[in-house]
Amino acid sequence: MQEMFNLHEDVQEIMFTKQEINSIIYTMADKINTDFAGKEIIAVVILKGSLMFASDLIRALSVNVKLDFIQVSSYGASTVSSGNVILKKDLDEDISGKNVLLIEDIIDSGNTLSHLREHLINRGAKSVKIASLLSKPSRREIDVQVEYIGAEIPDKFVVGYGLDYNEKYRQLDYIGILKPSVYEK
Ligand code: IMP
Ligand code: MG
Repeated sequence: MQEMFNLHEDVQEIMFTKQEINSIIYTMADKINTDFAGKEIIAVVILKGSLMFASDLIRALSVNVKLDFIQVSSYGASTVSSGNVILKKDLDEDISGKNVLLIEDIIDSGNTLSHLREHLINRGAKSVKIASLLSKPSRREIDVQVEYIGAEIPDKFVVGYGLDYNEKYRQLDYIGILKPSVYEK
């Protein structure tokens, strides 16, 4: 039987409109352009949730950007992190001696980003800075330094603009709070 899915109706409340997301990204891009002026960046996009964010952020950058992708295990059909991070797709580029900008959709417990920062440093990156569109500070279990945070949000499960629940709702052009009835059976 087909699962219940009502794209907009499953969203309880809009948290950030498309316009609000754009302005958050331009503010962040300005800082990155200043901090990396005259340098080259390798933007490492964490698949799949960061796809939309990375695509908009990168287009707002005026510095020289090379792109690479990495993928780690997702939550699956759950809204809570399992804590163990499994690498599903590794980098294609040699990042040794390079300035890396790691692009993430949201930081929750901090497990994913602390694991990936270490992974990139082990690969010889000269520097690793992190850009995360959203952050849920109240959920942090591991202290990770995130140089660029778009917005801090409360402990709510959000979807849209790349963020998913069980691989769905990524295509929303806004970010909204998912109705708990969708994942509480
Ligand atoms: P962490 O390892 O606990 O920091 O989790 C980070 C990952 O959890 C992100 O890359 C997201 O894929 C996922 N995540 C955390 N909170 C949310 C949410 O509210 N909506 C969708 N995905 C989330
Ligand atoms: Mg993710």
